[in-house]
Amino acid sequence: MSENSAPNPAPGGSSCSAVVGMQWGDEGKGKIVDLIAPQHDAVARYNGGANAGHSVVVKGERFSLHLIPSGILYPSKLAIIGNGVVLDPDKLQQEIDGLRSRGVDTSGLIVSSRAHVVMPYHKAEDAAREDSLKKERLSRDGEQSSVVSEIGTTRRGIGPAYAEKVQRSGAVRVCDLLDPETLREKISIAIATKRASLVDQPGVAATLDVAGVTDWALHAGENLRPMVQDTTYLLNNLVRAGKKVLFESANGTLLDVDHGTYPFVTGSSCSVGGIGPGTGVPVQRVGRVTGVMKAYSTRVGAGPMPTELTGDGEDGKIGDRIRTRGREFGTTTGRPRRVGWLDLVAVKYSAMINGTTGLALTMLDVLAGFDTVRVCTKYEFAGKQTDRFLPDSASLSAARPIYTDFPGFSEDVSAARSRGELPPRARAYIEFIEQTVGVPVDIVSVGPDRAQTITS
Ligand code: GDP
Ligand code: IMO
Ligand code: MG
Repeated sequence: MSENSAPNPAPGGSSCSAVVGMQWGDEGKGKIVDLIAPQHDAVARYNGGANAGHSVVVKGERFSLHLIPSGILYPSKLAIIGNGVVLDPDKLQQEIDGLRSRGVDTSGLIVSSRAHVVMPYHKAEDAAREDSLKKERLSRDGEQSSVVSEIGTTRRGIGPAYAEKVQRSGAVRVCDLLDPETLREKISIAIATKRASLVDQPGVAATLDVAGVTDWALHAGENLRPMVQDTTYLLNNLVRAGKKVLFESANGTLLDVDHGTYPFVTGSSCSVGGIGPGTGVPVQRVGRVTGVMKAYSTRVGAGPMPTELTGDGEDGKIGDRIRTRGREFGTTTGRPRRVGWLDLVAVKYSAMINGTTGLALTMLDVLAGFDTVRVCTKYEFAGKQTDRFLPDSASLSAARPIYTDFPGFSEDVSAARSRGELPPRARAYIEFIEQTVGVPVDIVSVGPDRAQTITS
């Protein structure tokens, strides 16, 4: 029998798992992937690009991963970058070099031949578009608007790279980097269509030079060549052979291009639904979906966030305290993250979109020391109360949170290793989340380190 004609697993065979973000990103997905990777044979990224920043802390040593799956720290695991990722070859190389210099074996890293490439002009386009949106906003009234405003992207070229993929003609895939003639033709087409809109932007001339960009891309292709494979067959053959694959999402469900707070979203499908298009593995092979959520909310960039703690008053001070305690500054861009109370309307919506089977609650330690901890369980919108999330940004901007208040806990919980060791008020908080969302909390994280975790 050919290696590609192995029988499909029994109907309903669902030995794979997924880790997805339930909020606006940075929920601690990297930590949770690292934690459950040992139960799997391979970890695969299926969406996003170097906009992601996933942190893993092992015995005090911090690793920040952007494109490489967080399972890379286990030398025996395959770490697969699927076709749904938009790949920045320079960032990937920097990441590989950084890991190798710290003694991490990266030989298990495999890149899909069909992943799309983030080209230098995509980053120029991302920046130019953000700058012109900002200029447009300032020329109106300067206020952040729920309709026209810069998105606050990471400027990593993500949106333009996905747009080029959908536009098709000039899009460059990893396989094209290994084929000089096709590559030169595609780059010429892409640059010809962009020149008019980019030519006035400062510092972009080099990104519009066909020969220079082609040389850069060919060099990137030679570096990538040993890692490039058809990951669709690779992953499906692993699954058919009974191996377990863990799918690692980038970004968060509320940033999903379809289900998030559009237009303040990223360019990809961050929810479980992205696994099919982003890897070629049927989503019904995924039996376990771990939804990672913080014990509060954060968001980077523009867009509505009903529970945001901001301003000069008491709310702003609480927000600053959570930001400082949680070190809420972006892993990718270093930007301070916007901070707010936990929004369970949003989390419940994300659980519905993802079919979440278990929750991983992170940052519980950060909430210690507050007199009162608030949880949003409903919104007031258009004169009525609702427990429905409002993914339309204009509607969500107009929603007011309705809170349930909990007495806070003062104890440091970072040394707890079982639920029983948590203070009763922290346990009550967790139980309330389970009841409201209707999904069990399987994992509680009480600090960044791999060891600071409760699984029982
Ligand atoms: P990701 O993008 O979802 O992987 O999350 P990030 O790595 O961008 O952001 C999460 C941050 O919180 C990182 O700095 C983690 O090291 C840290 N972290 C994860 N879990 C915990 C936790 O339970 N408590 C604290 N204090 N920090 C945590
Ligand atoms: P991880 O995987 C938090 C946000 C950006 C911006 C919007 C669009 O670390 O959770 P983009 O550059 O993707 O076009 O930006 O999405 N964003 C994230 N916020 N964590 C992320 O990834 C994010 N990836 C994108 O801040 O608001
Ligand atoms: Mg992050």
